[in-house]
This record gives sequence, C-alpha cells and structure tokens, in this order.
Amino acid sequence: MGSLQEANRMKRLPLYLFTIMDELKMKAAAQGKNVIDLGMGSPDMPSPKHAVEELCRQAHVVENQRYSRPAGEVERKFKEAIAQWYFNRFGVTLDPEKEVLPLIGSKEGIAHIALAFLNNDDIGLVPAPSYPVHSDGIIMAGGILYNVPLTAENGFRPNFKNVPRDVLQRTKILYVSYPHNPTTACVDIDFYNDLAAWAKGKEIIVCSDLAYSDIVFDGYKAPSMMQAKGVKDIYGVEFHTFSKSYNMAGWRLGFVVGHPDILRSLAKTKSYIDFGIFRAVQWAAIQALLGPQDCVRDTVEEYRKRRNLFVDGLNCIGWKVEKPKATFYLWCRIPAKFSALTSLEFASRLVEEAGVVVAPGTGFGEYGEGFVRFALVQPQDRLKLAVERIGKVLAIA
Ligand SMILES: Cc1ncc(COP(=O)(O)O)c(C=O)c1O
Repeated sequence: MGSLQEANRMKRLPLYLFTIMDELKMKAAAQGKNVIDLGMGSPDMPSPKHAVEELCRQAHVVENQRYSRPAGEVERKFKEAIAQWYFNRFGVTLDPEKEVLPLIGSKEGIAHIALAFLNNDDIGLVPAPSYPVHSDGIIMAGGILYNVPLTAENGFRPNFKNVPRDVLQRTKILYVSYPHNPTTACVDIDFYNDLAAWAKGKEIIVCSDLAYSDIVFDGYKAPSMMQAKGVKDIYGVEFHTFSKSYNMAGWRLGFVVGHPDILRSLAKTKSYIDFGIFRAVQWAAIQALLGPQDCVRDTVEEYRKRRNLFVDGLNCIGWKVEKPKATFYLWCRIPAKFSALTSLEFASRLVEEAGVVVAPGTGFGEYGEGFVRFALVQPQDRLKLAVERIGKVLAIA
C-alpha cells in the first residue's frame, strides 16, 4: 500500500497464517504435487439433503427474496426452532424472542459482540491457543487482548483465578470454547458450574463457543454452559454454528443464546451492519434443526473412523498421538527430531516434502508454538496416503 494507511487496530492483527499455507499449497500444486489439505477446518461432507431441498424450494418464493426483517414469519419460526433444538439437545428452556439471536455464521457474532461492548481500554480475556476470531474480534473492536495460557499441564483449561486483579477490573468479555479448537480438550459440567460461580457478581460477558457440540466420540457428551448452576445470574452467552454438525459451512449460519440484554445490544450492533440471513436459508435451517438427525450421527461416525485410522497411522510411523474425545482435529506436538523448527517451518516442510497441508500451531496464537493441527476433512483413503507420505518425511529426517 502507498501512503494511505490501514487503521492502527488492523495493523495490530496477527498475520493470518492460513494465507501463507495457501500460498505454499498453490506452489506445491503448481509443481505437480497432489496436495492433501488438512489445514482449514472446512468440512468436506455434504449438507443434509432435506435442508438443500428446502433451500431450493424456498429460493423460488418471492417473499423470501426480500430483506429479512426481525418480526417476519420465518424469523420467528427459526428462533422457535433453535429454542426447540436447545431443549432437545441440552434440556435447557430458552425464550425464543429474548434469549435467541440468529447469526450469519457464529464467527460474525463473535466478532460483533466485541464491537458491541468494548471501549478502547476494556480488556478481553482469551485462553490461548484459540480460534483466531476470539482474539482478533477484540483487537478489531479496539479493545485490549489478554491471553490466558492453555498448556498440556493444565489440561488446556484456563484458570481465570490467576488473572491479576487490575486486569480483571478492566475485563469486560471472556471466551471459553469446549470441545476446544485447536487442542481438542473437553470439559464436563463442573467446569461451567465453577465458571458461573466465579463470574457471579462480575460485570464480565462470559462467551462460550460450542461449535463442536455434536462432534463427540466414545460416549462423551459435550455439555452446554447454559446447563450450569447459576448461569442465569451471570452475563452468559453461548455461540453455535451449523458449519460442523450439519456440514453447512458455506451457508453462513449460526446463532447465539443467553442473556437477553447482551443479545439485544448485539442485535442492535448488527442492525447497523447487516440485514440478517437470506430467508430461504432460514427455512432450510429449520429443517436441519428439527428434521431427521441421522445425518449428524453419520457425520460423527465418519469422523470417528477417520480419527482412528489417522491416529493409529501416526503412532505406527512413530509420531505418538492420543485419540481426541471430540472435534475433527488432532493437536500434535512436533516430533522431537524436528523440535528445532518453528511450527510454521515444520508445516512448510510437510507441504513441500509430503504435499500435506496442516495448520501451524502459531496460527492460533503464540501459545500454539511447538504444535501443528490436522483437520480430518478428507476421505479415509486420502488420510491413509497422507500418513504414508508423512512417514517418509519423518524417516529420512
Ligand atoms: C471454535 C469455532 N468457533 C466458530 C467457528 C466458526 O463457525 P462459523 O462457520 O459458524 O462462522 C469455528 C470454525 O472453525 C470454530 O472452530
């Protein structure tokens, strides 16, 4: 750029490492490599057939081609469907009008909630490594980011009790997100009970990002923060997405539930920026939430098979990895003989030498150094091939 400068807050954003990985991927492809992309968490399986069919039907209806308005018929029904899904899934009762807000993907809501609430000297607490928009939303809103380190030793769970008192006094928002991207750590309901007890009486918005609620294995059931004791006494909200459970990432569909005052301010912020979700998409979303759910079970079963195949494969080639209880990721410490490399350098070698794209740990903040993340978003035969190729790189090093 010439002398025209971006806003300072934009300059404070970290480099988006997926862009660098994309460039490396294109370079490898240009050299004729058949690249296997396990970098981004973009699900490869199809959206539910009944949702796609409803979208096609509703797209023809002229009424649905207009701006979405908050008081419209489908807007009301979509919120009711979300409340119904919440009750079915978690046994939590929500007021569809006051405690539910649809989003154009949960990322959109996560970014805008920071914009709605943060002043320049307000702090946002983000456990790190983290899904980037938890941190970036705070920076883009002009707030101050304070990372709470997640380590293998603390089970990748944050301890907010260790945050200095002067930081807490200026904190207005914080994030938790379990099952966790990128570390795959999980929690039980006691985690949220403790969090709600700690947050009680504090003027802090507690955001739970439950993107992977349904991608769970081996009998584990991911709890919702909204099930916690005392959650109604705190400024608690929870974000959800259709991207993972229903393979609807490109549709840009999510929602947030929880404290009515927080949702009202978020809706107000959004009303200055967007016009809501295409109505045909909302009709289809109702079908996804309330229609047959075997598509979710099939998706999870496929991820379980991929997880087993890939983890067993990595262990066979000498890369010791445990099977995660949830998400479609693997968070792997860089093998000892490569430990002199940064996660970006190691990830670059995997693209260049194995033709396998992974996410470098520092794509999730500095606390991700020393790790890479695999997203199991390719069919089983491609995953087998990826393990074989990685095995060769590990063997010759
Ligand atoms: C933890 C987490 N939250 C939110 C999202 C974004 O979801 P959406 O597609 O609804 O914006 C992702 C996507 O990878 C995620 O991993």
